[in-house]
Formats: sequence, structure tokens, C-alpha cells
Amino acid sequence: MEVERVQAIASLSKTLHTIPSEYIRSEKEQPAITTFHGVVLEVPVIDLSEPNQDNIVKQISEASRDWGIFQVVNHGITNELISKLQQVGKEFFELPQEEREKIAKTDDSIEGYGTKLQKEVEGKKGWVDHLFHKIWPPSAINYQFWPKNPPSYRETNEEYAETLRGVSKKMFDYLSLGLGLEAGELEKAAGGDDIVYLMKINYYPPCPRPDLALGVVAHTDMSILTILVPNEVQGLQVFRDDFWYDVKYIPNALIIHIGDQAEILSNGKYKSVFHRTTVNKEQTRMSWPVFLEPPPEHVVGPIPKLVNKGNEENSGKGEEETSKYKTKSYKDYVYCKLNKLP
Ligand code: SIN
Ligand code: FE2
Repeated sequence: MEVERVQAIASLSKTLHTIPSEYIRSEKEQPAITTFHGVVLEVPVIDLSEPNQDNIVKQISEASRDWGIFQVVNHGITNELISKLQQVGKEFFELPQEEREKIAKTDDSIEGYGTKLQKEVEGKKGWVDHLFHKIWPPSAINYQFWPKNPPSYRETNEEYAETLRGVSKKMFDYLSLGLGLEAGELEKAAGGDDIVYLMKINYYPPCPRPDLALGVVAHTDMSILTILVPNEVQGLQVFRDDFWYDVKYIPNALIIHIGDQAEILSNGKYKSVFHRTTVNKEQTRMSWPVFLEPPPEHVVGPIPKLVNKGNEENSGKGEEETSKYKTKSYKDYVYCKLNKLP
């Protein structure tokens, strides 16, 4: 079946100054009504070049408990590599449409070029197209879903994957230490070396009515963590104290989202962040989240040490903490969440 791409609808809408009704959100969701304007939220910004590691652990742990999202700077990925990653992704989305369709998603795969993702809320659609492909571990990669054009796409994404692995290991260690665990424990409980790195590119074309439409609808990520590179166009919003707030764009920072699996593993100490994206009237917004996911069969539940009485955080309080989440394979978790099952 021929799928209608938002990119194609956007080029038609430009001259019409309107958008099709299936992109007009209900009043409960419209950004013009539901955004707290005038305040740009400064989610915690953490400098990873800070020599005092304990300080970094403390900041990351606090941000993950209180916000579920933070930005990191001086993370070790060069501005040059980030620019290259953005450039090759942008070039793919600027190819003629039929070039992108060559790697369109098939029914049985999450990977590939696509448009619709989640079940639609009230029959409404998001103003966004996307591309998904795994970038790590090498054994999980299906190059058939990687763009062949531009030719440097592959090399750039391979370099990014290698570099990101270093950053993500550091993140896992800090998050682990922040829970009173040993450095490697959280990553190991989440799947260790088999953790899958799933790259997504979001492409949000200009939208004549950004007041009425949304890019990606409100959600928490199912991943353990998501590490995201945005372009310079504002659009990420986070829900806090009953309102949606824009998250400040910081050049070359990485945005780290705590996902559902980290919330589960930590037995609720870390919170997965509720977020969504808005679109822009004149400019194309793009983002490059990488979802760090347990392998499908890997079983995830609260880490026993974080549940049992006697762990550092509970001792002295005289209360026994119970497991707040079900333990299940990641594959089952995804199935349940997508089908709204308990
Ligand atoms: C998403 O949450 O999937 C997109 C986030 C973004 O584009 O910044
Ligand atoms: Fe997300």
C-alpha cells in the first residue's frame, strides 16, 4: 500500500496555509493551548569533563530521579562527528522521495523508512517521518535498512556507534553508582554487551499550523536510556507540574532520556520522562535519538538489591520496599505497552 509521507503533505500544505484535519490535535493536546509559554525549561546540564567523578554521579542521579532527562556537555563526541551525523541524515531526507522508499519499512520490521509509528491518538497523526536502523552490536545490524546515499552515510554512522558506546558505558556507570551499585551492574542487568543500539532519525518538515499539530505525541521511551542529538530547531517539550515546557536547545549537547527500563531496573528511583515534540512553521526540525534497548528475550525487572530491605537507601527507615514493577522479557514489555496491556 502506498503510504502518504508527511514530507509530501508538507510541500502541498505550504501554499495552502492549512493542514489536513487528521493532523489537527484535540484541544487537550494542541501546543498553542497546552504549552507554558515564556519559560524555556533548563533541564539539568551536566559537564562530563568535571574532574570530580562523585560530583558527576550526584548530578546525574539527582537529574534522573527528579526530571528523568538531562543534557550532557563535554561528552567526548566531537562537534565535527555530530555535524557529520546530521549532514548525512539530512542528505538522505533531501533525496528524491523514490530513493527513500527503497528502504521503506516492511510490515514485519521496525527498521526502515516510515511514517506512522504508534497507535494514533483519537485517529490523529503526527507531523513527522522517520528512519530506524540498528547501529550496534555489529551482529544485529541489517545494512539493507541503512541509506546507500549519501555514500558516507555508513562510515559516519559506524563511527558514531563506536563513539556512542563509550558515552553510553559512562552513563550506565554513573547511573549505577548513583543507585549505590557497582559501576557495571546496571548495564549488566539491562543486557550487557547484547544491549541493542537503535538509531532513529525524526524528520519534521515545516508545518503551516504548528499551533495545532504535534510532531511526536506524548510518551515515555521504552528503552533503558535514549541518547539524542537534535538540530538547532526548538521542538522538544517535557511535562512538568501539569504543563508542557520547551527544553532549551544547547549546541552540541547530548540529551539523555531515562526510559521505562531504567525506571523498572531502579524500582522507580529513576523516572522515565514524559515528553513530546512540536513543529515549526518555517524550519525543518530533525533529531537523532539512539535507543539503548535490552535484547528482546532479555528479562528485565527491579534489581533485587534495590528492592530488598537492607539496601543503603532503605536501611534505617524501618520499611521494607516492595517490587513496584513486573518482571518480564523486553519483547513482552513492548507488546504489552503497545497493546495497552498490564
Ligand atoms: C522522540 O521522543 O521520539 C523525539 C524527540 C525529539 O525529536 O527531540
Ligand atoms: Fe521519545
